[in-house]
Amino acid sequence: MRRMSLSARLTATFVAITAACFILVGWLLYRAAEQRIYEQDETNLVLSARHIRRFVAELGSVDDLKAHQDRVTISVLGDPSNALRIVDGAGRIVVDHNAMGYRLDIQSVVPTDQRIVSSMLRTWHDDRGLPIRGVAVVGQLQDGARVTIVVARSLADREVLLRRYGRDMALRLLAGMLAAILLSYVLVRRALRPLHSMATDAATIHAQSLHTRLSAGNAPAELHALSGALNDMLDRLENGFARVWQFTVDLAHDLRTPIGNLRGTNEVALTRPRTSAEYQALLGSNIEECDRVSRTIESVLFLARADNPQFALQRVTLDVEAELERIADYFEGVASEARVAIEISGGATIDADRELFRRAVGNLLSNALRYTPPEQVIKLVAGEANGTVTVAVENPGAGIPAEHLEKLFDRFYRVDRSRSDSASSTGLGLSIVKSIMELHGGRVTVESQLRGITRFVLWFPARRTS
Ligand SMILES: Nc1ncnc2c1ncn2[C@@H]1O[C@H](COP(=O)(O)OP(=O)(O)OP(=O)(O)O)[C@@H](O)[C@H]1O
Ligand SMILES: [Mg+2]
Repeated sequence: MRRMSLSARLTATFVAITAACFILVGWLLYRAAEQRIYEQDETNLVLSARHIRRFVAELGSVDDLKAHQDRVTISVLGDPSNALRIVDGAGRIVVDHNAMGYRLDIQSVVPTDQRIVSSMLRTWHDDRGLPIRGVAVVGQLQDGARVTIVVARSLADREVLLRRYGRDMALRLLAGMLAAILLSYVLVRRALRPLHSMATDAATIHAQSLHTRLSAGNAPAELHALSGALNDMLDRLENGFARVWQFTVDLAHDLRTPIGNLRGTNEVALTRPRTSAEYQALLGSNIEECDRVSRTIESVLFLARADNPQFALQRVTLDVEAELERIADYFEGVASEARVAIEISGGATIDADRELFRRAVGNLLSNALRYTPPEQVIKLVAGEANGTVTVAVENPGAGIPAEHLEKLFDRFYRVDRSRSDSASSTGLGLSIVKSIMELHGGRVTVESQLRGITRFVLWFPARRTS
């Protein structure tokens, strides 16, 4: 089923509300008009009945009444809907004025001593179905004779009037409602126009045009918030794309260098016959370049895996001091070759993935070993404060200039490219450390003094007590 558009929905809601209001107001107005008209007629009937009864009471006899017929009927003259009949005690009609000739009902007659009020009026229908409202009262003449006075009014003209009024009003309400539908549709369309133009803008954005931003123009504040949020999202996507693109470029560059080296040295070697010692040296250098390529590929694969939200850590409880001892043992050979000592102090316990912990500390230690001058000491320091465990790798050396510190953990970032483009450097070591710390919910920080101490610190969050 096709979903209703927002304009259609808003218009429908608006129309439903207006229709309900119009119908309610129309009905109330109709009822008020009806009440006013009938009230006025009832007052007139009651006043006429009272007046005629009083007039009859002043007359001497039925004959007097006959003689003064005109003065009696004067109060009902002028409106053909009005009727008056006076009947004497014997049932003879004394006065009769009924231009429309409808049936006059003489029932539940009001006695002489009772004041005539509108609640005594009754409604009946004559043979033609005409609605009639009226009252029958007893009047007494001076000679004691009693007559029955019937005062009535046909309601037919009132009904016609009200029907016409109702029809006119319904037509006007309908016209009003149609105008409201049209107007609300136009207004809603206009209000939603900025949304359409945002959708058009958004439709033009693709991977190659991520720099495009949605403009809210002079749209209402709500849409500004929406376009702001979407533009922020585009900022993030653009950054992410730029990072991926940069990563691809760096990766290509980093693979090109060793492959270029391989090809170059082999080509040179083939220009003339070589001794077996020269071939051995060449193969050794080839293997080193191959190692570098495979290390780069392995690191890139690791980073890609670590980026996957499904990456599962094999957390175990680790005695940090024992782990540091083991890592230091592993690097013992390189350290003694570089004539550098490794010193371990402090201790703590963490929940971490053993392999990844070793890899993170190992990467920091291998950097430290590379940049520590001979006869100096690298310190591995474990500590714990408020449940947070820190593992610091400190080494003396030339230090890292402050402007590099921020980018140090970026993939392929090296401070001194010429020096670290050697076969042993991929520029991925610290970004792997950062990834490992993020997987553990922790972080890695660095501080460095020129010709002083460079300190990398791994921060492990407080252990979860289960
Ligand atoms: N302890 C340190 N002292 C001075 N500079 C350092 C130190 N550790 C890292 N760096 C600088 O940070 C850069 C990035 O280090 P990272 O470990 O990411 O890459 P790499 O050591 O060059 O290569 P890889 O670790 O992949 O062999 C290094 O190239 C180096 O310039
Ligand atoms: Mg490194």
